Amino acid sequence: MTKPVNAIEVKGLKKYFGDNKAVDDIDLTVPSGVIYGVLGPNGAGKTTTINMLATLMKPDAGSAKVFGHDVVKEANAVRQLIGVTGQYASVDEKLSAIENLVIFGRLLGLSRSESKAKATELLEEFGLTEAAKRPLAKFSGGMRRRLDLAASLIAQPPLIFLDEPTTGLDPRTRNRMWDTIRRLVKNGSTILLTTQYLEEADQLADRIAVIDRGKVVAEGTPNELKKSIGAATLQLHISDAKRITEAAQTIKKVLGVDTQNPEPKLITAPMRDPDTVTDLLVAFKEVGIKLDEVSVQKPSLDEVFFALTGKTNSAKKGKK
Ligand SMILES: Nc1ncnc2c1ncn2[C@@H]1O[C@H](COP(=O)(O)OP(=O)(O)OP(=O)(O)O)[C@@H](O)[C@H]1O
Ligand SMILES: [Mg+2]
Repeated sequence: MTKPVNAIEVKGLKKYFGDNKAVDDIDLTVPSGVIYGVLGPNGAGKTTTINMLATLMKPDAGSAKVFGHDVVKEANAVRQLIGVTGQYASVDEKLSAIENLVIFGRLLGLSRSESKAKATELLEEFGLTEAAKRPLAKFSGGMRRRLDLAASLIAQPPLIFLDEPTTGLDPRTRNRMWDTIRRLVKNGSTILLTTQYLEEADQLADRIAVIDRGKVVAEGTPNELKKSIGAATLQLHISDAKRITEAAQTIKKVLGVDTQNPEPKLITAPMRDPDTVTDLLVAFKEVGIKLDEVSVQKPSLDEVFFALTGKTNSAKKGKK
């Protein structure tokens, strides 16, 4: 039996900019037919990794293969198999959105009428019908990104890199984008998606690699990652900032977890079992620590990092 070829296989990949270890010994395996999320903060090395996989940048060390083809030795073969958002759609800034899409379809070998029909259909789907005749130069960032993704639906390459496709988009547009991304996979593409949003990775990705400072700090299915960090975060605002250490000790005693203290009166802790919250409130009452506010939130990326590495993002960005 032959082993199915993975969409991406990365081993020991490195890229240094001077002494900045942008990508520092990364291993990744992305099976074909999935959405693979790469989650990490600013400067983690997400774009640098994609640039190497997309043959736009040469690795300093390690190897990377796309459907079995080496990104350095077989760069041309790799380029036939991939799509990178940002490179589509904007064939000509002065031309309208529909003209750009039609040209794009023609370049991919569609007839004039096929290309026009496809372009019209996609513009409708992406809510760009009214803007169809406007030149690209007058498109907003969000409209442009929608058009990019529309163009990738025409091409439907086997592997698509989406580098933070929804950063800065309004919620409605973001949901639309998510639907499109799911459709690309249903039609047979594999997607490598980078994001700074835990929720986005959770919604879309079959597997997630969390990267920070050029290293993979965790890898697994969204459920595996959430299990390791707790599905929710407990936020407690205490009345008296002087008692924060005591509050942290109480939480450790009752919930058995470490806490974070992002603001003088705010203390956060991973919440694994909602039933234990009552015990905690009773314990606070017993020691006489007053609370101004109690809330339960989805863990932020910062809290994921804290849970995975024991350090906060902001602390890590500062001097060590
Ligand atoms: N061409 C370059 N020359 C020098 N340094 C670079 C270059 N590209 C990236 N870097 C540095 O490499 C590190 C990783 O950058 P990268 O763009 O890969 O991060 P990222 O995870 O994509 O971040 P963001 O979420 O902000 O897009 C950063 O410290 C960045 O400053
Ligand atoms: Mg980036």
